[in-house]
This record gives sequence, structure tokens and C-alpha cells, in this order.
Amino acid sequence: MTTPYRTVSEITCVGVIGAGTMGAGIAQVAAQAGLNVVLFDLSTEALERAESALRSSMDKLVARGKFSAEAADAVCGRFTYAAELRAMAPCDLVVEAIVERLDVKQKLFADLEEICAAEAILATNTSSISITAIGAALKDPARLAGLHFFNPAPIMKLVEVIKGLATDQAVIDTLLAVAKGWGKVAVAAKSSPGFIVNRVARPFYAEGLRLAEEGVAEPARIDTLMREAGGFRMGPFELMDLIGQDVNYAVTCSVFDAYYQDPRFKPSLMQKELVDAGWLGRKSGRGFYQYSEGKPVTAPLEWDEIRFGGFFNISSVVEAPAMQPLIDRMEERGIAIPLRTQGEDGEICFANGATLVLTNGQTTLERSLDEGNPNLIQMDLALDYGSCESLALSTHPECPEEVWTEVYAMFDFLGVKTRVVKDLPGLVVMRTVAMLINEAADALHFGIGDAVGIDSAMQSGVNYPTGLLAWADKLGTSYIADVLDNLNLFYGDDRYRLSPALTQRALINAPFHTA
Ligand code: NAI
Repeated sequence: MTTPYRTVSEITCVGVIGAGTMGAGIAQVAAQAGLNVVLFDLSTEALERAESALRSSMDKLVARGKFSAEAADAVCGRFTYAAELRAMAPCDLVVEAIVERLDVKQKLFADLEEICAAEAILATNTSSISITAIGAALKDPARLAGLHFFNPAPIMKLVEVIKGLATDQAVIDTLLAVAKGWGKVAVAAKSSPGFIVNRVARPFYAEGLRLAEEGVAEPARIDTLMREAGGFRMGPFELMDLIGQDVNYAVTCSVFDAYYQDPRFKPSLMQKELVDAGWLGRKSGRGFYQYSEGKPVTAPLEWDEIRFGGFFNISSVVEAPAMQPLIDRMEERGIAIPLRTQGEDGEICFANGATLVLTNGQTTLERSLDEGNPNLIQMDLALDYGSCESLALSTHPECPEEVWTEVYAMFDFLGVKTRVVKDLPGLVVMRTVAMLINEAADALHFGIGDAVGIDSAMQSGVNYPTGLLAWADKLGTSYIADVLDNLNLFYGDDRYRLSPALTQRALINAPFHTA
């Protein structure tokens, strides 16, 4: 394709504007990829800090054997530290990472248009401002795109390449190739609030906060369940403490406002209280957790106690794909299963009448009444029942203790800690994951990204253990739609409404990913 703009092979000199956290990191990534870099900041202190941070970062890479001393010197040698914007004149690509203000960014790009060649590509690292709005101030908005890195830029794999309304597709294609060449996972996205990651990730925090507000479980338990059952690297509360409650709350508010107060993105009063108190997380020494020497101080969690001698007997199982890894784990531990049948929904039946099923988004009380079985016990979703270390359960309030204790006696035998949590729909991991899947489906529905891009963005941008749409395919889109429908029915809140992309697939249980 012919393009008036620089192509990948023509990009040899990269300008970075703003030498703060992100700019310094982006500049390092470009220099490590062998390109010459011109780094500019209004503040000479910021430039000096960036220079010494680069040196110490390269020294660490040398010490870890990732770079030879000569290669590290060469990376540092590719840098020019500029005190004037004019120094951007020879750059083929300029990436802006300055203060997050539309007027300041627009003025900067208007100045750059006067300085850089007409063929040079201009990019912004903004995380919350519309690319289209920034581009509106340019004479040639077709050459401006978003190039959104994640913090810390040298380590985080993802780069979202964002197309504004006027951006030329050739510019997007070039930036996708540039970012790949820099060793990144590059994903195309459309200019929209939060792009892919900051939008799709909202329920990770929002559902955690709602679960805690509703008293389903305390933050430390939700974090543990999200890690040990959900397979996430961190739970929502520890992650919010790390990001900073103020920063996380501000992103939520900005996405909420940008989507015209869609209840799906509603901020949490619980989090606002923390922000108001100045309990901002690690940086202030207290957030959801208290910190001592940078480490959270937590009381050990209590799990359900084994009573009645830890005795249990299985009478039968209904095998279904979602349940199979658990049944395999039971067999590996030598648990006898006298009778097995196949079915759409899995069940593990105990001789004492307890029936263990995967949550379907109903409360256990409601489902027990529907199914005429007061001994029904719902278990939470696990990424892999074959290896999960903890799991939430919920029961009918009148389920006799000796019935449900057999269920957790079995989990104890399997090495899984359990806790019966407050009986609200979807338990912890299922409710959060279903909402994440719904948001990923909606981003797909509105063309913000494609299924492969959305899944890899969440895996490489925020380290999710698997792609969300792939997770939906594994559980069945109909199952996830049922969970959300049940949540929606229970709460009567538009927050839990299904994305049309999920509704449509769920009708025939069609997957998001097609081979
Ligand atoms: P920062 O505050 O660490 O650095 C910004 C730098 O820009 C400062 O050194 C400042 O002196 C300089 N600056 C401000 N106005 C300038 C101007 N007109 N010309 C030249 N230099 C100017 O900010 P940070 O965190 O690096 O963020 C920069 C951009 O990256 C923002 O748009 C932010 O939304 C975005 N971003 C931030 C992420 C983060 O985790 N911090 C993640 C992804 C994107």
C-alpha cells in the first residue's frame, strides 16, 4: 500500500516528549530496539532523572545477563536529551507522553506539525483522552494515532494502537508493525473511552467492590479467591492498593462519565470513602490493607472447619465439561464414584443428599426452591478445578450443617480450602468473570477490537490468566449468558444487562473465537 507517511523501515529516529514515568520507559523501549531517540521535556530535572534511570535500568539488565556492557552502552548512546521542541525535526515518529490534558496535548501537536516533516507519524500515549479530540487540532489528523503503553513500559508487553476517526489506516498498520518490532504485543483498538484494557477491566474492580459492599466476603478473602480459584495474579483489592485508590477511582469516574453514566461503570462509594480518607494504598501506607515496610499486614483468613470427622461419601456424579477437572481430581485422590452419567450441567451427589453444582448466577436459596432440593450447594468458578487451592460455596439457609460439611470435608481431602459465603448471586469468581466476559463481548460488539485482540490485550496488558472470550467459549456462551441473566433478574439493575454480542451467541451456544 502506498502511504504518504513513514513506513516501518523508514522509521529510524523516534522522538519522545515527556521524560516522566511513561516517556522515559517508551524511549528506553525504542532505543533497545536499535532506534535513535530524541527525548524532550520542559523540565531539565525530568530529563536528568530519565538519563540516570536509563543508566541504572541498563546496568541491571547487564547484571542479569540480558545485555552485554557494550550493547547497554550503545542503548544509552542512542539517546539525545533535548531542551527544545525543535529537536524533534529529524524524527520519523514522535510519541507524546506529557500531562493528561487535552488543551496541552493539542497545542503540543499543533507545534509539532510546524517542526516535523509532513510524513512523520505522530502518536499519543494518552490513557483517557479521545484520539479523535486530540487530532481535531491538527492540520492533518490522519497522521495521529494512539500508542498506548502500560506501566512500566519496558516490561509490560501490551501496546494498544488506537485509531481516531480521522486516522489513516496505513498509520495504524505501521504502528502495529513498529510496536511488534519493539518486542511488544500490539493490538488494534478504536478510539473510545478506556480503549480495550481500561474499559474491559472495570468489572474486575467494580464487582470486587460490590461483593465487599454487600458483605459476600471481606476484601482479603475476595483477593485470595480471585488468585487461588480464579487464577488471577492479584486480587482486585491488592491491585487497587498498588495502583492507588485515587488513580483507580479517577479512571473509573472518567470511564463512567465518558459512557454517559452507564450503570455498568458506576464508581463505588466504598472506594470513594478510602479516597476521601487519604487511604490511597501502598503509597500512603494504608488502603484496603495496612502496609508495613511496603508489605501488606493481613490477619490469616479463617476457612470452614471440618466437623463430624471429615467423613463423606459420594453416591453419583453427572459428568459435564466444566466439572470434569474436579471429577478427575477426585479420582486421582482415590475417591470412589459408584455411579456416573453424562449431562449438560455437572453435579456431584453425596450419599447424605448434598448436591454440589456450579453456580448459575441464581442465589442458592432461589435455585434450591426452583429445583426442589434444599440440599443444593453451589460452588464458585475456578480457572482449573484440577489445581485450585480455594473455593467459595453457598448453601440454602436451612441446609443442615451435617449435609454441607460433607462437601467441604471432600474439598479438604482434595487440598482445597472452602468457605460458605453470603448467599448472593454468582459467588465471587463467577460473578466477576461473567461481568468481565460481558464487557469484553461489548467491546467486540462495538468494534473496539476483534476477539483475538481483546483477549491478548487482557492477557498481556493486565496479565489475565486466559483470554476472557476464550474463557466464555470454554464454559459455553449460553452458560455465561444464564449467569448474567440471573444476576440481572435478581438485582434488576442495568449494570448486569447482557451485551448483544453475548445474547446473540448464547442462543445457539456459539463461541466468540472461530477456528
Ligand atoms: P509523568 O507526570 O510521570 O510525566 C509527564 C512528564 O511530561 C513530566 O516530566 C513533565 O515535566 C512533562 N511535561 C508536561 N507537560 C509538558 C509539555 N508541554 N512539553 C514537554 N513536557 C511536558 O506522567 P506519566 O505517568 O508518564 O504520564 C504521561 C502520559 O502517559 C499521560 O498522558 C498518561 O495518561 C499516560 N499514561 C500513563 C500511565 C501510567 O501508568 N502512569 C500508563 C499509560 C499512559
